[in-house]
Amino acid sequence: MKQFISVEDVKDINVLVEKALSYKANPFADKHLGANKRIGLLFLNPSLRTRISTQIAAENLGMQVITFNVDKDGWKLEFEEEAIMSGATVEHVKDAAPILGSYFDILAVRSFPNLINKEEDYSEHVIKQFIKYAGIPVVSLETSTLHPLQSLTDVITIKEQMAFAPTAGESGRRPRIVLTWAPHIKPLPQCVANSFAQWINAWGEAEFVIAHPEDYELDVKFTKGATITHNQREALQEADFVYVKNWSTYKDYGKIYNNDPSWMLTPETLKATNHAKIMHCLPVRRNVELSDEVLDSENSLVTTEASNRVWAAQAVLSEILKELK
Ligand code: CP
Repeated sequence: MKQFISVEDVKDINVLVEKALSYKANPFADKHLGANKRIGLLFLNPSLRTRISTQIAAENLGMQVITFNVDKDGWKLEFEEEAIMSGATVEHVKDAAPILGSYFDILAVRSFPNLINKEEDYSEHVIKQFIKYAGIPVVSLETSTLHPLQSLTDVITIKEQMAFAPTAGESGRRPRIVLTWAPHIKPLPQCVANSFAQWINAWGEAEFVIAHPEDYELDVKFTKGATITHNQREALQEADFVYVKNWSTYKDYGKIYNNDPSWMLTPETLKATNHAKIMHCLPVRRNVELSDEVLDSENSLVTTEASNRVWAAQAVLSEILKELK
């Protein structure tokens, strides 16, 4: 693997998932693979799970890890080509990235969208600038439009659950996976929803439904292949997995139109499901997106999901390390 920016960088999702699950069973199986290699984890935005799980994954592979919070400790970076830097930005990415490329063997970057300029965000110009100027493999820790380490984790978690208690059942039916929009008090990126849709579609082993209120359509380049409905109750019928996430509007970019609290998942709304397992990438606004009862129920996978972030990151880093000279 040369980089990890989206599902398009993965040859075979199932093989990568098996690799991750093998690391879960034996975390130190490849503890020498990353010897004398160093990874930089660069955060332009906050993180709990991504930061810590990726650090653990790299250390399990024997890598040295340096984490740098650009947003708090670094110079404010400029990403515009030919910018006249007379404003707030202090250092251009074309100066900073080659230096990072000389310090590290792999560079991992988190950079959220600004949710103001759709064209700019959806061009993924920040991560593309790091790829262009760093000269080493780049891993996404969540970018303007996608969160592939989260989505790989989500497929790992679904496949793991199917192995424990096959939702496909005796009839061999495919699991029904529902991605449902949930209310939130702030406009959030579409990254997790885009990425989940992209990965579940690419995986192709599920009946996949997306439920959201009108005006919350996602970019069809990620959702194409899914059934899309504005009726959450209908979507939840016989669901095996329910993935809950808020996102802001895509068409009229970055807005909150309708925050209908009836879209919050509760034990009542989940009655129609097939005892569905509940997923969320976290952090979650309790009793806004999901009720306490749902989050604290035995069907909630949120902690398992977050702990599986280590194995997803380890599988990806191992694939990149194998191709490093
Ligand atoms: N799910 C996720 O990416 O969590 P963090 O923002 O805490 O890294």
